[in-house]
Amino acid sequence: MKKVGIGIIGGGLMGLEMASAFARWCAPTNVEVMPELVAVADLVEDVRIWFRRVPSCTQITADYHELLANPAVEVVYLAVSQNLY
Ligand SMILES: NC(=O)c1ccc[n+]([C@@H]2O[C@H](COP(=O)([O-])OP(=O)(O)OC[C@H]3O[C@@H](n4cnc5c(N)ncnc54)[C@H](O)[C@@H]3O)[C@@H](O)[C@H]2O)c1
Repeated sequence: MKKVGIGIIGGGLMGLEMASAFARWCAPTNVEVMPELVAVADLVEDVRIWFRRVPSCTQITADYHELLANPAVEVVYLAVSQNLY
């Protein structure tokens, strides 16, 4: 199965929800790709701390520019307030 490196910008409610969905990706059948959370960016330190429990998430940063510059990030999940899109 092909792994795809995911970066999450905004680790709030939806960021956590997606991180949890990636962790249980073995549940669906007939899928050809495996999302792997490799990076998260959030302005709030308390939010960032949770992501330390995800072994594959090796980049945890306050600056989303750093996440976007990470070559391991192939897909970005944007989970900030809509007024910030
Ligand atoms: N909560 C839901 O049930 C739900 C459902 C569907 C869609 N959405 C959408 O998902 C998006 C996120 O919603 P949420 O409920 O997770 O919000 P949230 O407030 O829980 O999380 C947003 C996070 O973005 C972070 N953030 C803000 N600016 C940032 C920046 N410049 N760089 C990095 N991080 C930044 C905040 O610190 C916060 O932790 C919204 O657009 C919302 O409309 C939410």
